[in-house]
Amino acid sequence: MPAPELQSPRLILRHWIPADRVPFALMNSDPEVMRYFPSVLSTDQSDLYAETVQLGLEEREFGFWAIEVRSADQDQGLFIGFAGLSVPQWNATFTPCLDIGWRLGRDYWGMGYASEAAHRILDYGFNQLDIEEVLSFASVLNARSIAVMERLGMIRNSEDDFVHPMFDPDSDLSRHVLYRMPKQLWMSLQSDQVMPAED
Ligand SMILES: CC(C)(COP(=O)(O)OP(=O)(O)OC[C@H]1O[C@@H](n2cnc3c(N)ncnc32)[C@H](O)[C@@H]1OP(=O)(O)O)[C@@H](O)C(=O)NCCC(=O)NCCS
Repeated sequence: MPAPELQSPRLILRHWIPADRVPFALMNSDPEVMRYFPSVLSTDQSDLYAETVQLGLEEREFGFWAIEVRSADQDQGLFIGFAGLSVPQWNATFTPCLDIGWRLGRDYWGMGYASEAAHRILDYGFNQLDIEEVLSFASVLNARSIAVMERLGMIRNSEDDFVHPMFDPDSDLSRHVLYRMPKQLWMSLQSDQVMPAED
């Protein structure tokens, strides 16, 4: 079954459309956006990435959704990046697993969009897909991505830190932190939020 469209107060998480390609290539060519990845992407690499993740959304109930900011006065909102769930294709002590990740164009940082999208995706994963645990990892230097994990309430055990096998082990970027969100923790965080305040 294909992945459904998801909505949150300010965002639509949807399948990819051809119009996403240009802004996506622009963000993938930005050294600041790609600072914690092995390299920036060429336009061809970026287009192929968009095509691959779209196929993923058609084949499975999850993947990397394109994120659009809702627009009151236009049919088509603004494409700002992606967020979603993936299965890492490399081996580590914690694989196989489901990983949540995100990437936004530089102009859309600092507005809470990544956290809002990720919150909606975790809600979908735990409530609709009945996933038991979602992991997230980032270079130890990627403070913004780690802040998203912490904002979501994910937990880190420093013993889980690892050297990412897709990076040169001598690179400054290879050392990664691992955060976990077990379903039980997610459910308890959500029920804490809706509990009526005591007098
Ligand atoms: C990682 C990344 C998605 C984080 O983006 P971000 O904008 O910092 O994260 P959020 O969307 O959660 O926004 C949080 C910020 O918005 C602010 N904010 C503004 N309005 C807000 C709102 N309505 N709700 C929540 N936060 C809001 C928060 O205070 C916070 O500000 P701060 O950065 O000054 O602390 C972004 O930096 C990125 O795309 N990086 C490049 C790709 C990357 O490294 N991906 C991760 C690989 S592991």
